[in-house]
Amino acid sequence: MLALLRERHFPAREVVPFASARSVGKELDGGLQVRGLDEESIKGFDVALFSAGGATSGEWAPRFAAAGAVVVDNSSRWRMSENVPLVVSEVNPEALDTHKGIVANPNCSTMQMVVALKPLYDEAGIVRLVVCTYQAVSGTGRRAVDELLDQSHALLHDVEPPAPEQYAHRIAFNVLPHAGSFADGDDHTDEERKLINETRKILGDPSIRISATCVRVPVVTGHSEAVNVQTREPLSPERARELLAHAPGVIVLDDPAAGSYPLAIDAAGRDEVFVGRIRRDPGHERSLDMWIVADNLRKGAATNAVQLAEILHERGLLGAREAPSPA
Ligand SMILES: NC(=O)c1ccc[n+]([C@@H]2O[C@H](COP(=O)([O-])OP(=O)(O)OC[C@H]3O[C@@H](n4cnc5c(N)ncnc54)[C@H](OP(=O)(O)O)[C@@H]3O)[C@@H](O)[C@H]2O)c1
Repeated sequence: MLALLRERHFPAREVVPFASARSVGKELDGGLQVRGLDEESIKGFDVALFSAGGATSGEWAPRFAAAGAVVVDNSSRWRMSENVPLVVSEVNPEALDTHKGIVANPNCSTMQMVVALKPLYDEAGIVRLVVCTYQAVSGTGRRAVDELLDQSHALLHDVEPPAPEQYAHRIAFNVLPHAGSFADGDDHTDEERKLINETRKILGDPSIRISATCVRVPVVTGHSEAVNVQTREPLSPERARELLAHAPGVIVLDDPAAGSYPLAIDAAGRDEVFVGRIRRDPGHERSLDMWIVADNLRKGAATNAVQLAEILHERGLLGAREAPSPA
């Protein structure tokens, strides 16, 4: 997020990084010094970008909001709360108008999928989605990336790989039908539930039926998704391709015979959502199949958070409330 604020020339007078007590005083690239959270240190901000887990967001997002900032939260803590808009910049930016101090950034797999679905939804409606994800390890965090690389290195050198810590099983040279975690008694992971619930909230349509299987694959960055879309009205693959070619934030790569389709390694480092393999589902006359790929750390997380901050600023939706000056 810090890199994106710089890259996109976010018009901030001052940027202050916060982290846990462990990191207070640490100097980041660019010379910024990490501060700790307390009632005084959080005063005087217009916008606060949060990515510190649900518990920290639960405790500190309302405090930042009460101190005058608009919080853009990356955790899942507030996403389904009624008074919190869940926003993707290309899909439902108007939802920002209703914010009450906290705005939620969606889950990464949901984010990239709805960017590609929105133009199809507007044209033909969506009745049902069947989604299978192929999610990169960086979505789990830095330690999961190290786990994949360490295990791969060991296996390539004929050494016993380190035991899995971040995942239930070895991720190197493997595919895990288990992205996220299983809550007590649920046969779906929380990642699958997020994909279902957040998609409905962002598209504003609780009637969409959604089936999801979230899978972790040994890719460092870039989530891929096979999505089957059943539309309400007829929609040809040609028309879908045309709509997507003009959709904001989308790039269509769809010449499969020439080897042109979205790839995780090409999407890594990019802010757009890539769509290809758009074709008629031979099993249903109003269904299309497609392949959707994006950088899970950029459009799937940081890029959208910064885009939301930009829109809040451009539309005058930041409070610009001055905190009382220190005595
Ligand atoms: N689409 C999305 O929006 C998306 C995508 C990926 C992840 N996420 C969410 O983002 C969150 C963070 O993920 P991550 O991979 O970035 O984790 P991470 O690398 O572990 O970073 C967490 C950060 O939060 C800070 N932190 C932890 N506890 C804190 C506390 N009590 N007070 C202040 N700061 C605290 C940490 O500080 P220290 O450096 O001092 O430890 C660290 O800087 C998670 O909630 C995750 O679900 C969202």
